[in-house]
Amino acid sequence: MAQYLIVGGHGGVGEALARRLAAAGHAVIVTGREKAAIDGLAAEIGGRGIVCDVLDPGSVAALGKEVEGALDGLCYAAGTINLKPFERLSVDDFLNDFNINALGAARVIQAVLPALKTAEAGSGIVLFSTVAVDQGFAAHASIAMAKGAVVGLVRSLAAEFAPQIRVNAIAPSLTLTPLGQKVVTSEKMAEAVAKMHPLPRLGQADEIAAMAGLLLSPEGSWISGQVIGIDGGRSTLRIRS
Ligand SMILES: NC(=O)c1ccc[n+]([C@@H]2O[C@H](COP(=O)([O-])OP(=O)(O)OC[C@H]3O[C@@H](n4cnc5c(N)ncnc54)[C@H](OP(=O)(O)O)[C@@H]3O)[C@@H](O)[C@H]2O)c1
Repeated sequence: MAQYLIVGGHGGVGEALARRLAAAGHAVIVTGREKAAIDGLAAEIGGRGIVCDVLDPGSVAALGKEVEGALDGLCYAAGTINLKPFERLSVDDFLNDFNINALGAARVIQAVLPALKTAEAGSGIVLFSTVAVDQGFAAHASIAMAKGAVVGLVRSLAAEFAPQIRVNAIAPSLTLTPLGQKVVTSEKMAEAVAKMHPLPRLGQADEIAAMAGLLLSPEGSWISGQVIGIDGGRSTLRIRS
């Protein structure tokens, strides 16, 4: 039995991963900002819930102290989506996206690094980028900047931590989670966005979680420094000329 930490464990992808790992018999620690929600999920899956706000350095440091024993894997699934034309983006928008998506990940990794280093067979870290880093989309400047920083973090840490800790990212296209639902506000819009993908549908939280689970597991033990697109081909394929 391995022990995994999922930050943003009550989000769409985080919760799907927590359920998968718990169902496979692993010890799972989930974090979120709301105590009742995170405790409820932890009780349901037989795991442990810890309240953590990644914007609060004290809260992240406390998380590091609360994790007991070796960590076989960390999935940092906290994230934002904030789509606005460039002219309307404020400095606060940029900072908030950067702090939650990139700096928060770095902070959490620093806080739990001793536990990740203790795992005997090595450990894994999974972060999240977005399809909007490889493919430019209008109104994505702030989130693409923040998620581009995540890619830099992944590659740097994968080199620095090899061979003991593997570090990878998943770059999804629009996926039906609470975050994704904020973007597609109607059935018509969901259909239109789905058609923009060579594999013409939106993503499901559980298929993103399945890849995260593989990257954290021994089956992913020769994968590091990668950014894996789960995006219906949107970042790389053009099927009509
Ligand atoms: N869904 C998509 O279309 C899509 C596309 C590209 C990339 N992604 C990325 O995939 C990852 C998973 O996203 P998702 O779709 O599962 O999103 P989600 O359902 O909205 O979950 C995101 C989680 O982020 C957490 N979070 C936000 N601010 C936080 C803070 N200050 N401190 C701690 N936690 C915070 C939320 O925690 P609370 O429970 O406390 O609110 C929530 O559980 C994210 O990094 C996202 O950016 C998603």
